[in-house]
Amino acid sequence: MNFRNFESQKNSMKNTQDYIQGNKDKFLKELVELLRIPSVSADPIYKDDVAHCADELAKHLKEIGLDAVEICPTAGHPIVYAEKIIDSALPTILVYGHYDVQPADPIELWTSPPFEPVIKETPIHPMGAIFARGACDDKGQMFMHVKAFEAMLASNELPCNVKFMIEGEEEVGSPNLAIYVKENKAKLAADIILVSDTGMLANDVPSITTGLRGLSYVEVEVVGPNRDLHSGLYGGCVANPINILTEMIASLHDENGRITIPGFYDTVQELSIEERSEMAKAPFSNEAYCKALNIEETHGEATYSTMERGSIRPTLDVNGIWGGYIGEGAKTVIASKAQAKISMRLVPHQTSEEITELFVKHFESIAPKSVRVKVHPHHGGEPVVTPTDSIAYKAASLSYETTFGKKPIPVRSGGSIPIIAMFEQELGLKTMMMGFGLDSDAIHSPNEHFGLFNYYRGIETIPYFFSNYTKLMLNENV
Ligand code: BES
Ligand code: MN
Ligand code: MN
Repeated sequence: MNFRNFESQKNSMKNTQDYIQGNKDKFLKELVELLRIPSVSADPIYKDDVAHCADELAKHLKEIGLDAVEICPTAGHPIVYAEKIIDSALPTILVYGHYDVQPADPIELWTSPPFEPVIKETPIHPMGAIFARGACDDKGQMFMHVKAFEAMLASNELPCNVKFMIEGEEEVGSPNLAIYVKENKAKLAADIILVSDTGMLANDVPSITTGLRGLSYVEVEVVGPNRDLHSGLYGGCVANPINILTEMIASLHDENGRITIPGFYDTVQELSIEERSEMAKAPFSNEAYCKALNIEETHGEATYSTMERGSIRPTLDVNGIWGGYIGEGAKTVIASKAQAKISMRLVPHQTSEEITELFVKHFESIAPKSVRVKVHPHHGGEPVVTPTDSIAYKAASLSYETTFGKKPIPVRSGGSIPIIAMFEQELGLKTMMMGFGLDSDAIHSPNEHFGLFNYYRGIETIPYFFSNYTKLMLNENV
C-alpha cells in the first residue's frame, strides 16, 4: 500500500472518466426517463408499469453492451439479469439493486408530481437535485452502476466480469428473489456483491455502510365488544379497544426508552468502548439534526447517542394505528376493534423469527381479559455487518479517496435490506455497500430527491472500485 499513487490510479481509468465527463447530460436524461415510469411494487394498479420498467431497463442494458440480458418472470414482479464475462480467470462483481419504488402517497405533499422528474435547487445539493419517487431509492443509485459499466466498456477499461441482478420487489420485502437466488446459484456465482442502496454522511464526508439493521414487522388487532357501541350508554363499562391498544403500546417502552418485551435484548451484541468512541468520531451535530426536523430535542434509549440509537440499537415503532371514528365532526362511539402496525429494527445477533415470537408472546400476555388480541407477523429480515478489513472494503475506501480526496468513514446504517443477509447465506458472498444518497433525500417520503453531485460522483467512484478490487484480488499493487 506504500506504493499507492492516486495519479496512477486515476490514469488506469482515464478513458472511463473522460467518457463520464463527456456524457453527463445524456446520463441524466436517461435517468429521467427511467424515473417517469411509476414502478410501484406494492400496488397492483401499477403491475404493468413495473413490467414496463423492467423491459426498458433490459433494453437499455442490451444497448450498452451487456450480454445474456434476461427478464426473469417470478410469481410477482420480474428480475432483470445481465452479464459481461470477459475472462473466467478474472474476478466477478455481482451488482444488485432494485427498480421498484415506494408508493408516492401522500401525493398532495409533493411540490412537483412524483413521476415527472424535475431538477431543483436545495440548500445542501450544490448542483441541484432530481426530484422524483425512486430518484435515490433506488433507481438513481442502481443506474449509477449501469452508467459506470457503460463508461468502462465503451472505453475498453472494464477490468473484470460483471453480473447485474436488478429486482422489482425490494420495497415489498423481496418475496420472490430468495427463490430465484436459490434456483440460480451457479449463474450468480461471483466474488463479491456490490450494492448502492444506502447513503453516506454528507457530500464532503464520504462514508461506507458497514451494517444494516434487521426487521420484524407485525400487525396487531385488539377486539372488544362484538359491535360498535354508544359511548354514553356503554362508556365506562366495557373495555374500549382503542384505549387498551394505546395502553398496551405505551407499555412497550420504559421510562429509559428501553423496550420492555422480556428477552428482547438477550442476544443484542453490545459494542466495546473502543468501537463506540470510534463511532463518535464521525461528524454529527445533534443541533443541526433537530433543526432539520424542526424538533426541540431528540428522543430515545437513555445513555446512547443519536447516531447509536439509529444504527447499533434495536427499536420498536408504531408505523400506523387506526380504529373508531375519524370522519368530520364528533361521533360518540366505542369502536369494537383497534389496529396497529409495528416495526422492530434488529441488530446483530437478534433474529427476526425469535423477536417476532417474543413480541407475540408478550403482547398476548399483557392483554386484559376484556379484549381479544391477534398478532399477524409480516415479512422480516436479518441484520448484517460487513468487515472493514476485507479486500472489497480496501478497494472501496481507496476509490472514495480518489474521487472525494478523503478517506471514507465506516458507518452502520439503521435501514434494512433483508436480501443481503440472504445472499450471504445462500451464495456465501459478502456485500460491499457503496451508497451515495443522503439521509435528507426524503426516501419513502414526499419530495424524494437525489443530488446530481451524488449521482455523478457515484458513477465516477464505481469504476475505481472495479479496478482496485480486481488488482487487489490478483495481488497487484493499486
Ligand atoms: N434502500 C432502502 C434501505 C436503506 C435506505 C438502508 C437507506 C440504508 C440507508 C430499502 O429500499 C428499504 O426501504 N428497506 C426497507 C425494508 C424493506 C423490507 C421494505 C426499510 O428499511 O424499511
Ligand atoms: Mn432501496
Ligand atoms: Mn426503500
